[in-house]
Amino acid sequence: MPLVNTKEMFEKAYNGGYAIGAFNCNNMEIVQAITEAAKECNSPVILQVSAGARKYAKPVYLKKMVEAAVEDTGLPIVLHLDHGADFEMCKDCIDGGFTSVMIDASSKPFEENIEITRKVVEYAHAHKPYVTVEAELGTLAGIEDDVKVEHGHESYTKPEDVEEFVRRTGCDSLAIAIGTSHGAYKFKPEQCTRDENGVLCPPPLRFDILEEVSKRLPGFPIVLHGSSSVNQEYVKIINENGGDLKDAVGVPEKQLRQAAKLAVCKINIDSDLRLAMTAGIREHFNAHPEHFDPRQYVGDGRKYVKELVKHKITEVLGSVDKA
Ligand code: G3H
Ligand code: 13P
Ligand code: ZN
Repeated sequence: MPLVNTKEMFEKAYNGGYAIGAFNCNNMEIVQAITEAAKECNSPVILQVSAGARKYAKPVYLKKMVEAAVEDTGLPIVLHLDHGADFEMCKDCIDGGFTSVMIDASSKPFEENIEITRKVVEYAHAHKPYVTVEAELGTLAGIEDDVKVEHGHESYTKPEDVEEFVRRTGCDSLAIAIGTSHGAYKFKPEQCTRDENGVLCPPPLRFDILEEVSKRLPGFPIVLHGSSSVNQEYVKIINENGGDLKDAVGVPEKQLRQAAKLAVCKINIDSDLRLAMTAGIREHFNAHPEHFDPRQYVGDGRKYVKELVKHKITEVLGSVDKA
């Protein structure tokens, strides 16, 4: 099976009450961990590449590794550009064989966002085979590449804007801001309460916005960025093995599971992979300070990422046996 776009995947996910995991890839071990986990769960998956990943690994390596994963697993896999900054970057990926792109003009004024998004959609949809386009309305807090949006400067998606935006752009899916944010520090401690173990509990996502958006766009796939849960077991392993991650907090998995049952068809996860990889490597070095073969310590990181992805597919996304 060749790489696929998101169209049929999202239709099935919408109707089936589950979401597709969109995992960020930066190197071979991450690609293998995600796709081997997906294979064992018989789950479709989106492998996404950011501008930072393109700079780190070079687009050609990422593309070939993802193609290798398709050949290895036989799964339906989407190769997606994450947070495409402008038309040129989207065009480059479409021409280079990506099956889906995100144009992220969410920091621009509404009319400008529409104009840039429509231009990408026209190019992507005219491409053979058809490339799907994700757009974004509203801004998340956190860090993406070099852009940092401080807490308090994020803005929730306005439901009254979404019909006009989708109609005028023709985009295939829409990322909305309902309280998720990028990175491993999604909420300031003062925004949270603490449970009996002192663990931070963040404020709930704005399900009212999600519900209003999906009422206005029946059947239309919604995307959630910034959806790592910052699983505390990995934070603990990192901190017990020489790391120093203080007050790292994510979106509770239960809320993401709930969103996946609603109109959310794509859930973006990157920070959780980074934490799992780091936990595996730190633990390895602490136990084996004499080791210097990357296959040993990166291999342990890969094992932890694979376990994490299996957990996400079964407990959060609900996409087991949907390939
Ligand atoms: O949304 C951001 C993703 O986590 C990608 O992060 O730009 O550091 O590759 P990156
Ligand atoms: P996290 O930082 O929560 O993993 O979000 C990743 C993301 O949204 C990639 O686009
Ligand atoms: Zn994102």
